[in-house]
Amino acid sequence: MQEVDDNILIRLNKVTAGYGDKIILRDIDFKVCKGDFIGVIGPNGGGKTTLIKTILGIISSLSGSIDYPSGIRMGYLPQITTIIKDFPISARDVVCSGLSSGNFSGGLMSKPDYGRAEELLEWLSVGYLAKYQIGRLSGGELQRVLLARAIMCDPHVLILDEPTTYVDNKFENKMYEILHQLNEKVAIVMVSHDLGMISRHVKGIACVNRSLHYHNSNIITAHQLDMYDCPMQLLEHGKVPHTVLEMHN
Ligand SMILES: Nc1ncnc2c1ncn2[C@@H]1O[C@H](COP(=O)(O)OP(=O)(O)OP(=O)(O)O)[C@@H](O)[C@H]1O
Ligand SMILES: [Mg+2]
Repeated sequence: MQEVDDNILIRLNKVTAGYGDKIILRDIDFKVCKGDFIGVIGPNGGGKTTLIKTILGIISSLSGSIDYPSGIRMGYLPQITTIIKDFPISARDVVCSGLSSGNFSGGLMSKPDYGRAEELLEWLSVGYLAKYQIGRLSGGELQRVLLARAIMCDPHVLILDEPTTYVDNKFENKMYEILHQLNEKVAIVMVSHDLGMISRHVKGIACVNRSLHYHNSNIITAHQLDMYDCPMQLLEHGKVPHTVLEMHN
């Protein structure tokens, strides 16, 4: 019998997932609890996006089980490479479409929905984009709009797949401030390749490379990354950005 813990929002039990008969992730155990801020790291093709899509039910797991409390709302910011931008809708409509994963069942948006979408865009300093067609947006603008979309459903868990790839440094800092503010009420799972940056902000790190190792701290050493089979460079941000490499003999 599995323990019942009110603190757990998402729990994966021995999940195996992939595409057709191609297995990408095997026997994954993972949980997200209230108040968590988890960084997901790993090499290209290691299965981070696959993990997220499995959690969200976009792809079904091949075996194992996933438990959520009923009525859970998850906000999702997809990796930008998976988005089709030639869609004749406005930034504001994109934000409103975030309700479809929460309390919106499709159909016409209401005035209050538009109002909230506009407020969120304002909050992310891109209110002026509300009526722009999404195809016109730059990468960084689109990521801000997608963050607003992810927040729109007032989620219990916010799942972000590389949300800062295109944003400039100034907004990246602001984005982390916003995430900390949200994290007072919302659990966050965030994929990033910038280990130095996420270590500053997260509470735990999931290393994903076909399997998953959870590291219950924001500090991780090159040796631990090696142990977890998670080849990553430790990038340190200081006044002068520099990379910390392993010592040579
Ligand atoms: N729709 C798909 N059909 C078949 N294989 C896929 C599909 N999507 C992804 N894959 C494969 O699954 C593996 C894991 O991909 P995934 O996108 O999860 O990696 P990732 O860790 O998110 O990488 P990145 O850091 O580049 O975003 C890759 O080998 C990829 O080619
Ligand atoms: Mg990915």
